[in-house]
Amino acid sequence: MKRGKSDAKLYKLDGFVSKSRQKSVQILIAVAVIYMLLVTLEIPFVFDSSPASETTTTTLARFSELQSEQDLQDKDAPTRPLNWVSHNFAHPTHSQLAESKILSTLGFHPKTFDPSKNESSVDLHKAAKTAWEEGMKLWDEVQSGKVQPLEVSKLKNISETCPNSITLSGSDFLKRSKLVELPCGLTLGSHITVVGKPRAAHAEKDPKIALVKEADDEVMVSQFIMELQGLKTVEAEDPPRILHFNPRLKGDWSTTPVIEQNTCYRMQWGTALRCEGWGSKADEETVDDQVKCEKWIRDDDDDISEESKATWWLNRLIGRTKRVTFDWPFPFAEEKMFVLTLSAGLEGYHVNVDGRHVTSFPYRTGFTLEDATGLAVTGDIDVHSVFAASLPSNHPSLSPQRHLQMSKRWKAPSLSVGSVELFIGVLSAGNHFAERMAVRKSWMQHRLIKSSNVVARFFVALHTRKEVNLELKKEAEYFGDIVILPYMDSYDLVVLKTVAICEYGVRTVRAKYIMKGDDDTFVRVDSIIDEVNKVPAGRSLYIGNINYYHKPLRYGKWEVTYEEWPEEDYPPYANGPGYILSSDIASFIVSEFESHKLRLFKMEDVSMGMWVEQFNSSRPVEYVHSLKFCQFGCIEDYYTAHYQSPRQMICLWEKLQRRGRGAVQCCDMR
Ligand SMILES: *[C@@H]1O[C@H](CO)[C@@H](O)[C@H](O)[C@H]1NC(C)=O
Ligand SMILES: *[C@@H]1O[C@H](CO)[C@@H](O)[C@H](O)[C@H]1NC(C)=O
Ligand SMILES: *[C@@H]1O[C@H](CO)[C@@H](O)[C@H](O)[C@H]1NC(C)=O
Repeated sequence: MKRGKSDAKLYKLDGFVSKSRQKSVQILIAVAVIYMLLVTLEIPFVFDSSPASETTTTTLARFSELQSEQDLQDKDAPTRPLNWVSHNFAHPTHSQLAESKILSTLGFHPKTFDPSKNESSVDLHKAAKTAWEEGMKLWDEVQSGKVQPLEVSKLKNISETCPNSITLSGSDFLKRSKLVELPCGLTLGSHITVVGKPRAAHAEKDPKIALVKEADDEVMVSQFIMELQGLKTVEAEDPPRILHFNPRLKGDWSTTPVIEQNTCYRMQWGTALRCEGWGSKADEETVDDQVKCEKWIRDDDDDISEESKATWWLNRLIGRTKRVTFDWPFPFAEEKMFVLTLSAGLEGYHVNVDGRHVTSFPYRTGFTLEDATGLAVTGDIDVHSVFAASLPSNHPSLSPQRHLQMSKRWKAPSLSVGSVELFIGVLSAGNHFAERMAVRKSWMQHRLIKSSNVVARFFVALHTRKEVNLELKKEAEYFGDIVILPYMDSYDLVVLKTVAICEYGVRTVRAKYIMKGDDDTFVRVDSIIDEVNKVPAGRSLYIGNINYYHKPLRYGKWEVTYEEWPEEDYPPYANGPGYILSSDIASFIVSEFESHKLRLFKMEDVSMGMWVEQFNSSRPVEYVHSLKFCQFGCIEDYYTAHYQSPRQMICLWEKLQRRGRGAVQCCDMR
């Protein structure tokens, strides 16, 4: 696109030149002489002297647009000279000493988690105590060098566990609970073939894919699901569905056969891509030059298909060389054997059935192909065999790319001695290296962070795999932007990270305001500062997307028991992906925690709401609610955007830097 623009400019210039040549070559020579003069007399001086002129600013803007992202970042690095100076210091300053510590200094005392003390969070306290004790032992091992890096100790064995191909018969597949493990994930060009037979439709009273008109109505349903799952990417959550491929032969609410495709990332379903037989429109985005949905014969276009069959034959008989299109029926039929091949392309997954292309699904999430470590096939189907081939031969942990990321450019600037406006604590997990890298390369490059007016750190607890912790320690020492909490990470203990963020923000950074985010949250740093500055100085504040009168779920997978939360309602609380507090509230939380009086609840955002409410009873807090702290994805002009994949993070950052006066845009691709 950029090249297109400059080409157009060149053509214009050409036109201009030829016209003036017609008129007078002398004028041209004169222009050239003046130009040479200007060059020798330093053009920047001319620019500087007229900063208000519009033409100048557009020239400058265009100039920087032409630079690569790297050049831009190299240019605005005001802290660089400081770094150079600090290298030459014989004695490290106080702030450098603080920085060299990568463990959280949150005061942990066995008494903090006394299970006998408070009824309402007994289990949480027990879990925290165990996790902390285990974690301390584990950390000591990592510190003492007992944990060997993966590369040395298990290199050979691990490459042995990365088979190039996998073959399973139907009965083997059943034995493995309909789940094939792909130990090292997929890579470009990997393909999986499933031979199966959809079962005949059966009556279902409460099908999830259809609407039942009356309570005892039944619907005939035949559908199956093939999923690529990320078995190792997250703990204490359902594995993400990297690709969900769901042919519905009978029973879909549209009453026609469809193929639905989707992804589920951090337990949130994306927008489904439904192929209903119409075929993709000509102007629709393609995936590796393949359409997303092929056309197939629909019940309601029988005449057309007869016609097309006739013309097909006719065209064959006449022997035309022109490409002839012919429509096939829906690729799956009840009790009819099919051979399906799923392959990983450059831009997405492609599905061929019985040798014909059926659907293509662009890669959506921030997951890499290596993350697709499981294939599940469930539903109304008998699987006869599964073959996977062209699988990667290297374990992703040995990925050499990781070391390429270790560039000085992404290191955190040293803490300033002066006052810090805002501290941003980002929750992350040991194995979320890609997510952290995307944050480092995107909004953490903001000039306010580069100049240490705003400080951002990741808060990570320990992983069950020892090598991950060793890598984490190296990463923390290199980038200087990770605070490690020495306890075993678990979903229920996220609330401890929030307390640690408050502690670090108050004690180490001494920031005026403290913000909490996630590693899939994109933060617009300057709009956060603007938002904070709207509240008169000196007031206590709590800013975010605030929920009022929410009630705990009392059933299902995410149930909250009465033991955990005895009250009927939650206090007003800001959604977890992005909220801000004034430091007085944060110090209150830390001191309550350290004097063992802080009530803890497994949902960190609700806990925060509870603590702020408690603080508010002695000193008024300004609650500021804004939907621009987006909980589900991204909206135009957002302050924070959530569920952003690493690719989206980089895209949002690029859009933010290039934006003119218009609204800030989202990035829709995953
Ligand atoms: C236990 O938690 C309740 C509920 O917030 C609180 O009122 C009470 O003071 C706590 N008890 C102790 C001993 O800390
Ligand atoms: C590979 O692991 C197995 C146990 O899982 C062990 O017996 C074997 O010695 C290992 N081989 C190598 C080369 O490390
Ligand atoms: C905060 O405290 C004030 C004064 O006590 C009260 O009127 C207000 O409702 C409280 N706000 C919340 C959100 O609890």
